[in-house]
Amino acid sequence: AQKRVPFIGANWKMYLMPDQVIPYIETIKNQIPKPSETQVMIAASPLYLWPLLKHAVGSDVIIGAENCDYHDTGAYTGEVSPKALAEIGIQYSIAGHSERRHYFDEDPTIVNKKVHALLRNQINPIVCCDETLVRTETNDGVHWVVSQVIAAFKNVSSTDALKMMIAYEPRWAIGTGITASADEAEEGCALIRQTISRIYSPEVAETVRVLYGGSVTPKNVKALMAKPDIDGVLVGSASLDPDEFLNLIHY
Ligand code: G3P
Repeated sequence: AQKRVPFIGANWKMYLMPDQVIPYIETIKNQIPKPSETQVMIAASPLYLWPLLKHAVGSDVIIGAENCDYHDTGAYTGEVSPKALAEIGIQYSIAGHSERRHYFDEDPTIVNKKVHALLRNQINPIVCCDETLVRTETNDGVHWVVSQVIAAFKNVSSTDALKMMIAYEPRWAIGTGITASADEAEEGCALIRQTISRIYSPEVAETVRVLYGGSVTPKNVKALMAKPDIDGVLVGSASLDPDEFLNLIHY
């Protein structure tokens, strides 16, 4: 009874080098499902977005950003403008990935500013919520995830909320090979959906797609996707090889 279109996103992070990018998109671009069945995204470094967009023309691969600034333009040396992303044709961007929160001190207020910057530029935000093992063990995880979801949606209208996706990415599962079990991932995603329902309405919560990320592989993806509140996955390590990513997409 899946009403929401499944979404599978590669998050290359800072792994792939320039010589790998074009062969990758050329390998996958004609081998993905119809977008009405499953949407497939590659989120890449800003360096690669323009060439990727050019090579994706005529295919259904979505090219997304991994991050951007919350100012549209100005004296912000080294930052990436969401307005410029929109102008080259980017329609999706991750915001508040666990690595951004952890290594680059992005607090919930900054993530919310990024959400507004993306929405103002007609880019669909994919907001990631993390959760540490300490929080899980001390039973603080629920509070933590809920507070990140509330902060991400601050001052976002329900019409705009429908354009967003939220990813549950417990930090202990990212890049560690320790996947959350399908039940644990479902628990986190259901919690996010309940929170959206409380902020907006059950209707909004039924429409917004909630994703899971953290050591997703071609082997475990099926069990995750079978869960009612998991509408898709964000994939790091297992997305770096195009054939492995294709296997994962066609689980
Ligand atoms: O955004 C997805 C990512 O954080 C998960 O990384 O390497 O655990 O699949 P990985």
